[in-house]
Amino acid sequence: MKIYGNLISPFVRMTMVTAREVGLGAKVEHIAEGVNPTEVNARLAGLTPIGKIPVLETDHGHGIYDSRVIMEYLCHVAGNSTLIPDDGVKRFRVLTLQALGQGLSDSAVAYRYEIAARPKGLQWTDWMRRTETRISAALDDLENNWMDTLADVSAGSIAVAVSLGYLDFRLGDLGWRNGRPKLAAWHEAFSKRDSMVKTALVPA
Ligand code: BEZ
Repeated sequence: MKIYGNLISPFVRMTMVTAREVGLGAKVEHIAEGVNPTEVNARLAGLTPIGKIPVLETDHGHGIYDSRVIMEYLCHVAGNSTLIPDDGVKRFRVLTLQALGQGLSDSAVAYRYEIAARPKGLQWTDWMRRTETRISAALDDLENNWMDTLADVSAGSIAVAVSLGYLDFRLGDLGWRNGRPKLAAWHEAFSKRDSMVKTALVPA
């Protein structure tokens, strides 16, 4: 199977980290694919007409997206029931943590696009300030309420670790570690996992 997308995208990296964590690293081929937000990607349109990246192409040629569904698919193929536990209470804590991590990336990527891609005269300052408060609230929530769930390697902890890595890569000036010592220590330890090291982002 193949996963298409740019590894800088936290959504792409989450799926590649998951592939390695469930033991499918050798079976999943990563195809680096740049995407222009204002253009149709003709090579991928057949797999993902809506333009969701990453997209996974199964060995039968079907497209699977978005990143959450790809992560679940990889767990299913590998027969892994630890990254997304079956047990009800744990399952919905993990899925909510995953949504929090993905929401953090949603805000971080949108903020980055606003700074780097949107023409200067069209930037919306009030929206940017609101996005900063969203990012800050997500980080505070992780520090104060999620350290117990983050202790396990799961779809949730992968989403959070990769999102924090994206903040380091693109939005270092936000200083996300300030006032969040538990989250910073957790991220430092999680980033040493082989799945994170092998997908690490290299500054150009
Ligand atoms: C980035 O360059 O920051 C980026 C690229 C693709 C998707 C998301 C973010």
